[in-house]
Amino acid sequence: MPMRQRRKSRSASPSASTSVDALLSEERSFPPPKTFQARAHLSNGEIYKQAEKNYQAFWARQAQELVWSKPWKKVLQWNPPFAKWFVGGKLNACVNCVDRHIETPLRNKAALIWEGEPGDHRTLTYFDLYREVNKLANGLKSLGIKKGDRVAIYLPLVPEAVISMLACARIGAVHSVVFGGFSAEALRERINDASAKLLITADGGFRRGAIVQLKNAADNAVAGCPSIQNVVIVRRTNNEINMHPVRDHWYHDLVKNQSGHCKAEAMDVEDMLFILYTSGSTGKPKGIMHTTGGYLTGVNYTTKYVFDLKPDDVFWCTADVGWVTGHSYLVYGPLSNAATCVMYEGSPDWPERNRFWKIIEKYGVTIFYTAPTAIRQFMKWGTQWPDGCELSTLRLLGSVGEPINPEAWIWYHKYIGRGKCPIVDTWWQTETGSILISPLPGVTSLKPGSATKPLPGIEAKVLNESGKEIKVGGGYLALTRPWPSMLRGIYGDPQRYKSTYWNRWGGKYYFTGDGAKKDEDGYYWLLGRVDDIMLVAGHNISTMEVESALVDHPSVAESAVVGITDEIKGQAIAAFVTLKEGNKPGPEAEEDLKQHVVTKIGAIARPKKVIFSNDLPKTRSGKIMRRLLRDIAEGRALGDVTTLADSSVVAALKVKYEEET
Ligand code: PRX
Repeated sequence: MPMRQRRKSRSASPSASTSVDALLSEERSFPPPKTFQARAHLSNGEIYKQAEKNYQAFWARQAQELVWSKPWKKVLQWNPPFAKWFVGGKLNACVNCVDRHIETPLRNKAALIWEGEPGDHRTLTYFDLYREVNKLANGLKSLGIKKGDRVAIYLPLVPEAVISMLACARIGAVHSVVFGGFSAEALRERINDASAKLLITADGGFRRGAIVQLKNAADNAVAGCPSIQNVVIVRRTNNEINMHPVRDHWYHDLVKNQSGHCKAEAMDVEDMLFILYTSGSTGKPKGIMHTTGGYLTGVNYTTKYVFDLKPDDVFWCTADVGWVTGHSYLVYGPLSNAATCVMYEGSPDWPERNRFWKIIEKYGVTIFYTAPTAIRQFMKWGTQWPDGCELSTLRLLGSVGEPINPEAWIWYHKYIGRGKCPIVDTWWQTETGSILISPLPGVTSLKPGSATKPLPGIEAKVLNESGKEIKVGGGYLALTRPWPSMLRGIYGDPQRYKSTYWNRWGGKYYFTGDGAKKDEDGYYWLLGRVDDIMLVAGHNISTMEVESALVDHPSVAESAVVGITDEIKGQAIAAFVTLKEGNKPGPEAEEDLKQHVVTKIGAIARPKKVIFSNDLPKTRSGKIMRRLLRDIAEGRALGDVTTLADSSVVAALKVKYEEET
């Protein structure tokens, strides 16, 4: 099986690594701390038994935590691979995240505590949020947005991003948030795929003290988007921008005279809430569709139990709303639970490398949820940064996006959690909508590097190629029964939905694309992707997507892209490129190609290495031999290379590989 190797040991800063190594060698398992357990929502495994007794009744109980304007008739209608949950019910996601709280004393509780990168700061109570969302919802209606219309959102991490999502949900419009780091071309492709009618963007955003020119990128994108009728612009950075006289509207002008009340649409439970694009193994991103009731049930339930959320918690999920983690654990999960959420616009090292720890100190964050790539970066920067900050309010830590290597886990536990906070390593995907494999912090004994076990209500198995379950050992991770927050399809492409997720075992099980190993205790160890998707800093990027960007450059004849091990990002991108006759390889060409990928996709897809090669190793059927390329790029096959001018070298390696396999 072409499974990605488990990452080898990485060392952190010298002072940290010694003690981390010592801790690791103890092979510890971490039971829930007694003080944590005593206060936890769940402190024993009873809930697993309840869920297994009748999983549909279990999910129905979780759905009852939401407010419904019409009750459902049937819990599950399963017509593989198409599921409908809570059939016949009606509800509104915005009402569940906002309205229901303002009718209670929660009205004046902080919903969002936001800090901008330059240090500005806003707190919105649930009532403030209600007011802002209603005004924008009316504003969107005044621009002709109706139930079912798609609205694209391309914003920095400012409160208006959350307000925009909720305003769409309120009037039944489908939001498609595009990460602000994506390029104009990537934005255009996503807008066109969804035929979005309106775009919400900003003049700019702050990143490491500089202004990211979002409006420029939006203008370039929209020039090729016939479906866009209006663009709404949040004033954030005050830089000069071009305003199209008819199409463009300032956000503040649009909402200024709107009423603070807007009727919420009663949505059918299976009406679409949002589309979110994720990379697929072809170059074209997949518009993952999530609907209202099932999605909300999944995120509401997991936020409460995985994060053991209590009314007095201050919850900080560091993800941007451009990713599913931001959708589920910055917006819909915490707000439907009436949490207080911290939101930070900028970079963790601005103006200094302790910015995150300063934010935790300032707002008294109690639950902190971030990604392994960030943790490894913090390890590298050293413990002096968190050491100087007051982190004693923290009581629970979380990790998401890629496997967390045990060294990073231990470091996080020791230096951020100060040895007293459980860590929830949460496995899930854009497609799954909510966390599926994770510890319950008051119940589960933790093993550093393992996401532990499927949550109550979820059934996941490790299977071999022919669908036989592997009780102990490695194989493919499959989800073997439907769950409420599962994707409902790929926008406009039901065939691709079937072939991507349901083909491997004859339509019976959902294929996650991940490899996993189960140990003797039934713990799951995620092993990374088994397809052509790379996880760069925890973000999905397909090899094909980058290859298409490269061959789009006039000098490139052919390209092959592989993910290589990277100390901080988990994986980085290495691109093998064959140039067309008459083009010269070299540092200039390399930089030019890297920049071209940034322009086509965005900075997250910038290749770390470009290796020029006269020949790309392919099998007889024309498949690129990625394992060989990985070995070359990581220096195992040839040592450090930047140009493989002599094609006989690659040809010889290819023969050797073919003989081996
Ligand atoms: O490979 C798994 C990895 O991230 C993929 C999903 O990526 P995306 O849809 O962008 O969603 C990321 C945030 C949920 C998965 O197929 N992944 C995510 N979390 C973990 C993980 N791998 C191991 N451990 C995790 N905790």
